[in-house]
Amino acid sequence: GAAALGGAGVGWSAATAVAATAPAPPAASGPTTVVGPPAGAQTVPALGRHQTGIATTPQAHLALVGWDLKPGAGRRDLARMMRLLSDDAARLGAGRPALADTEPDLALHPARLTVTFGFGPQVLRTLVPAQRRPVLEELPAFSRDELEEQWSQTDVVAQICCDDPVTLAHARRMLLKDARPFAEVRWIQHGFRTARGTVPEGTTSRNLMGQVDGTVNPTEADPDFAPLVWTQTSDTDPFAGGTFLVVRRIRMQLDRWDRVDRAGREGVIGRRLDTGAPLTGTDEFDAPDFSATDHLGLPVIDPASHVARARSSDPTQRFLRRAYNYTEPDPRRSTGEDSGLLFLAYAADLARQFVPVQQRLDELDRLNAWVTTVGSAVYAVPPAAPAGGYVGQTLLE
Ligand code: HEM
Repeated sequence: GAAALGGAGVGWSAATAVAATAPAPPAASGPTTVVGPPAGAQTVPALGRHQTGIATTPQAHLALVGWDLKPGAGRRDLARMMRLLSDDAARLGAGRPALADTEPDLALHPARLTVTFGFGPQVLRTLVPAQRRPVLEELPAFSRDELEEQWSQTDVVAQICCDDPVTLAHARRMLLKDARPFAEVRWIQHGFRTARGTVPEGTTSRNLMGQVDGTVNPTEADPDFAPLVWTQTSDTDPFAGGTFLVVRRIRMQLDRWDRVDRAGREGVIGRRLDTGAPLTGTDEFDAPDFSATDHLGLPVIDPASHVARARSSDPTQRFLRRAYNYTEPDPRRSTGEDSGLLFLAYAADLARQFVPVQQRLDELDRLNAWVTTVGSAVYAVPPAAPAGGYVGQTLLE
């Protein structure tokens, strides 16, 4: 699935060449596990017309930054901000210090750093001229949502992803610094997946409920990946090659989940906990058989299970999931922490592809008894910066 680690489209920065020709460490100095260049040298190459960090195999760490433009900020201000941030993203992603970087040594191990920018609906309405404006509507209300203002829609978002948390912290700080004259931070949401090296590359990550999460997901090898993810408009459209991002902060009630036995937990999703295989199969990637029944004549995969409800018979009601786990200390909770999933999904058309699925899950999904959505936002994610330009330029100039 797209949750695989490593994968295509990974380049090496200059540091690789040095590491590859460096003398081998002396033998018998203890267990030797390092083979080849360090993962910190890896860079994600530019992807032509698309921003990176979308089709990119998910990195281990996420910092999602939501800004609101300062009152009175206009199109010129946003353009200036995006020029600075795009430059930071390009340099840092290549393993080079940002302009006026105060800690240039922290920039040298890019570890697949990517920064992906998006604009909220309000920015599109007020700062992007109508003839260049992509269509993005706020999500409809969902009955089960318990949205907290703290995690709500912002004007601008940066999805910063990296395999190394130190590099990530540095990149985040540089972006925050450069955005400060133009915008105020509303939230920063941190997330994580299984670290590089913990499991073989290609292993699907697990979420904090213990489930293998990310198995059924379009991958770049699928012929319909491009139409599902990238806006398919004429080449002259300023948004061609862009996409849309939906952010849902979903809290898990893990203390109550703890009380459910293994068979019950597997029934909620419709998949096994150990392998992630559907309850009708043996391998993670087996196709689920929703018509199979047990000796009592009952469906093996509950029609109200998460996978049964999330799957659509309409193949266009699909999107790219790129979710991260989150856990934060929360002394107000008896558990002492707040945990869940930062559900990030990319689609060429949220209203057509994402909303019907979310509506179905809102109506009925056995998982709902243990999860609550507390944050929600949508963004238009412009195509990559034009040569010598910045992300969003085709919309703003
Ligand atoms: C599948 C967990 C929220 C859409 C799955 C699977 C798990 C899972 C374990 C099965 C493995 C896989 O294919 O990835 C969760 C958890 C959630 C959550 C723990 C919340 C905390 C959502 C939301 C949506 C969604 C909000 C969309 C609105 C899907 C889809 C699939 C899926 C489309 C694939 C279904 C198929 O087999 O065709 N999820 N999920 N999930 N989930 Fe979720």
